[in-house]
This record gives sequence, structure tokens and C-alpha cells, in this order.
Amino acid sequence: MFKRSKFVVISVLAVFTLFALVACAEEVENPFGTTTPVPEADSSAPDAGEPAASGPDIANGESKFKGLGCSGCHSTGQNKLVGPGLAGINAKGDDYIRTSIIDPSAVILDGFSDLMPKTFGDALKDDDMDDLVAYLNTLN
Ligand code: HEC
Repeated sequence: MFKRSKFVVISVLAVFTLFALVACAEEVENPFGTTTPVPEADSSAPDAGEPAASGPDIANGESKFKGLGCSGCHSTGQNKLVGPGLAGINAKGDDYIRTSIIDPSAVILDGFSDLMPKTFGDALKDDDMDDLVAYLNTLN
């Protein structure tokens, strides 16, 4: 008698344990089920992003050149205004051009004064700086 009732108690505990495990398994399954659509949305994101990451936007560089007032001091030909004409500036290289824009006092050209504003480095976002340098490289 005693042994039998002990067996019943153990059986009941075993059944409850089984239910608890099944319940846990179902709870875990649901969150995974709801996250399944997310990777699908993610997989379309790189497709949308990749074309945008291709090369500098020279038209944007030109609009920065005009919008920031570079064109007030620099012609895109050989003629001097307040600063030198920028035709052929590509011969001096990207690093020189960037430094000239970010830190104009680093090099003061013969025959010119240190009149170029020092604020363009802060005013230009990285992408816009890349576009502006790419535009300047097209000037001949
Ligand atoms: C207020 C007038 C002024 C403005 C505005 C100005 N610059 Fe200048 N810039 C100068 C002067 C003057 C020089 C020459 C003196 C020197 O080297 O700093 C110069 C030099 C340069 C040089 C070096 C040229 C060379 O042949 O070595 C570059 C490149 C340049 N500027 C680009 C720009 C760009 C890009 C902008 C707009 C973001 C700009 N400048 C705005 C006056 C200006």
C-alpha cells in the first residue's frame, strides 16, 4: 500500500514536470516564430544600401563649391580672384587639397594672403568633403 502510493506521487510529479517542460518549450518557440520575418527585412536592406555606396557625387561637390562660397574666391579656370584659380589642382593630390580646405594656413601660396576661412573642415560632413575633393579633381 505505502509503496504504491509513493509510486503514484512520483508519477504525478513526473507528469507535472513533463507539462512544465512542454510549456517552456512552447514559450521559447514563440519568440523565435515572431522574429522569423525580421531576417527577411534585413536581407533586403543591403540590396537597398549597396548602390548608394558607389563613388563620390561630383554634382554634390559642385553644389558645395558654390553653396559654401568657394566660388566667390576661386575661379574654376586659371584666373586669380581672391585666391588662385583651381584648374589643374588635381596635380597636387587629394591629401594636399584636403589639407588646403581643412587647414588653409598650412600652406600660404606665394602672392596670396592667409584669407581663406578656417571653418570649412567643421562645416563639411565626410561625404561632402569627399564629393568636393572629387569635384575639384575634375577642374582643368
Ligand atoms: C575668402 C576667400 C576664400 C574662400 C571663401 C575660399 N578660399 Fe580657398 N584660398 C583662398 C586663398 C587666398 C588661397 C591662397 C592662400 C592659401 O594658400 O591659403 C586659397 C587656397 C586654396 C587652395 C590651395 C590652392 C593651391 O593651388 O594650392 C584650395 C585647394 C582651396 N583654396 C580650396 C577652397 C575651397 C574648396 C573652398 C570652399 C570650401 C575655398 N577654398 C574657399 C581664399 C579663399
